[in-house]
Amino acid sequence: MSAIVVVGTQWGDEGKGRVVDGLARHSDIVARFNGGDNAGHTVVAEGHTLKLHLTPSGVLHSDLTLLIGAGVVVNPGTLVSEMDQLSSMGLDVGPDRLKLSAAAHLILPSHQALDGARDAARGKGAIGTTRRGIGPTYASKAARLGLRAGDMVEPERFAERVIETMEAHNRQLVDLGADPVPSDQVAADYCAYAQRLGPHLVDGSVVIGEALTAGKTVLCEGAQGLLLDLDHGTYPYVTSSSTVAGGASTGLGFGPQHISRVIGVAKAYTTRVGQGPFPTELLDQVGSRIREVGNEYGTTTGRPRRCGWLDVVILRYAARINGLDELALTKLDVLSGLKELKVATAYQRAGERVDHFPAEFGVEWLAQWRPIYEELPGWEDVISGVRRREDLPQAAQGYVARIEELTGIPVTFTGVGPQREQAITELTGPRL
Ligand code: GDP
Ligand code: IMO
Ligand code: MG
Repeated sequence: MSAIVVVGTQWGDEGKGRVVDGLARHSDIVARFNGGDNAGHTVVAEGHTLKLHLTPSGVLHSDLTLLIGAGVVVNPGTLVSEMDQLSSMGLDVGPDRLKLSAAAHLILPSHQALDGARDAARGKGAIGTTRRGIGPTYASKAARLGLRAGDMVEPERFAERVIETMEAHNRQLVDLGADPVPSDQVAADYCAYAQRLGPHLVDGSVVIGEALTAGKTVLCEGAQGLLLDLDHGTYPYVTSSSTVAGGASTGLGFGPQHISRVIGVAKAYTTRVGQGPFPTELLDQVGSRIREVGNEYGTTTGRPRRCGWLDVVILRYAARINGLDELALTKLDVLSGLKELKVATAYQRAGERVDHFPAEFGVEWLAQWRPIYEELPGWEDVISGVRRREDLPQAAQGYVARIEELTGIPVTFTGVGPQREQAITELTGPRL
C-alpha cells in the first residue's frame, strides 16, 4: 500500500502533468487533490497534446482509475466539456474510470464573477487570479455555505440551492459595483450537469482506502506549487488551497503514513504568472529569451509568464515543507545556448545572510532581501535527444549535480523536451 505524491516546488507550471504521465504506468489510481480548473497540466504523448484542467494527468493510460478528490473545487461545465473533448479523442472518461468525490465543492458562475470583481477591487494590489472562481469557492466552503458535488443527487433541492446561493452572491456583486449573474438559466444548466455527472460520483476516500488496502499504488497529482500554497506561499499572492504534499492526505482522505514517496517538480529556471514577489525575476533580454524558447505562456489563461533564474533557496524550502524524496527537473533543454547561468543559493539584507526563504513574515519583508547568486557555466548543444545523464554536455551535468548538492535531494527525472520520451528518467514504481 502506497501513495506517491507529485507537487510543484515553485509558482506552478513546473511540468507536473508530464511527470504524472511519466509515473502513471506504475500506478493504479491517479488523483487530483487540490485546486480546480485554474490548473493547466500538459501531457504530450501518443500523438496528443492534452491541456488538462480537471481530469487527472494519467488519462492516456487506459487501465487506470482517475479520481477528482474532495479537496478539489469543480466547475461542472468545464469538467463536462473536458470530458467531451477527451472522449472525442477516443479516450475513456466514462463513470467506471473517471470518478468525482461527492465532497468536492462546486464552482458557480457567480463565484467566477466574484473572483473578477474582488480582484479588480484590489486595484494595484490585484493578485491576477485565473478568474476561475477558485478563491470565492474555497471561501464559500470555509464559510460552510458551499455546494458540493454530492448535492447534485437531489435535483430539486439542488436547483433551489443554486438559485439561493447565486442570489446571495449577486447581492455581493452589486455591492462591488459588478453586474449580477442571472440565476435561472444557471440552475437549468447545473441540473443538466448533475444528470451527466451523477454516475461519476463516489465516496472518494473509500475508493482510495480500498485501493491502498488492496496493495495498489495511488498517484496523487498536485496542482499549483509551493509558493502559491495558502499557508506557505507568498501570501496574499497565492491560490486558496493546500498545494503541498500534506494536502494530498487531507484532500483525498487517507492517512499520511501511506505516503511512500514525494516528488517535487522544478523547472530548471523559475516562472510565475500573475502578481506577487519573484526575487530572481529577469526583466532583461535573458528573461525574454527564456520566455520565448520555453514558450512560457500560461496553459489556462495564455498570459506571458514572468521568467527568472533558478532559486535553490526555494527548492530547499520545498524540501522542508513537502518532505521531498526526489526532484523532477524539467525544461533543462530551454537553457541551452545561454553562456552563463545563475542560481540563487542564499539571501542577504544589509550584511545579514539567510539560507532559508525569508517569506514567513510577509511579502514586504521578503522584498527587503536580495538573492545571492552562484554562477555556473552554460552549454551550447541542443540536448532534446539525450536520454542518459552521462550523455549531457559537461556543463549541463554540472548544473544538475550542483542542484543535487545544494538541495541534498537526488534528481531522478530530467526533462529535455515536452514529449513523454524526452526525458532522462530514473522514475520507477512505488518505493516501500
Ligand atoms: P504543470 O501545470 O506543472 O503541469 O505545467 P504546464 O503544463 O502548465 O507547463 C509546462 C509546460 O512545459 C508545458 O507546455 C509542457 O509541455 C512543457 N514541458 C514540460 N517539460 C518540459 C521539458 O522538459 N522541456 C520543454 N521544452 N518543455 C517541457
Ligand atoms: P498549475 O496546476 C501557475 C496563480 C494565478 C494567480 C494565483 C491565484 O497549472 O501549475 P487563482 O485563480 O488560483 O485564485 O490564482 O495563482 N495560479 C497558477 N499559476 N500555475 C497554476 O496551476 C496556477 N493556478 C493558479 O496566476 O497568480
Ligand atoms: Mg500549468
